[in-house]
Amino acid sequence: MRVLFVCLGNICRSPTAEAVFRKKAKDRGLDVTTDSCGTAAYHVGDPPDRRSAAAAKARGYPIDDLRGRQVAQSDFDAFDLLLAMDDDNVRNLQAIAPASAAPKIKLFLSFATNAETDEVPDPYYGGDQGFEHVLDLVEDASEGLLNFIERQR
Ligand code: 4NP
Repeated sequence: MRVLFVCLGNICRSPTAEAVFRKKAKDRGLDVTTDSCGTAAYHVGDPPDRRSAAAAKARGYPIDDLRGRQVAQSDFDAFDLLLAMDDDNVRNLQAIAPASAAPKIKLFLSFATNAETDEVPDPYYGGDQGFEHVLDLVEDASEGLLNFIERQR
């Protein structure tokens, strides 16, 4: 299974999702390919936001190796699932996706067990609590996605 996590800038939510999901997959012994990207190009080449990095590392998720990049047309072939953090990201992906790739584009929180929200809120302009909330949502959806992948095997 090849999973691409997608947000706007690729420095807060989607690298956090990648870091959490790949660690949990490794802990379960599941072989997955992961990456993350942004629909915008503001932070190409940048490391994760230092607030996201600090929050992720405090919960045991290595994240320092990740760098920002923008979504590419080749991603629609290269990945089985393109998991967007919010509805805007879904719309931005759908706008550039070939029709055949439309079924691969989903909200990441469609795999969550907690139905409180179906979007991961952008924490960029807020306080530290927003970064903890991102981690709570992403941990839950990662478990749900791993359960889904295990059921397919
Ligand atoms: P992300 O957060 O989409 O979760 O990476 C953002 C990061 C940067 C910006 C917006 C959102 N920005 O406008 O630079």
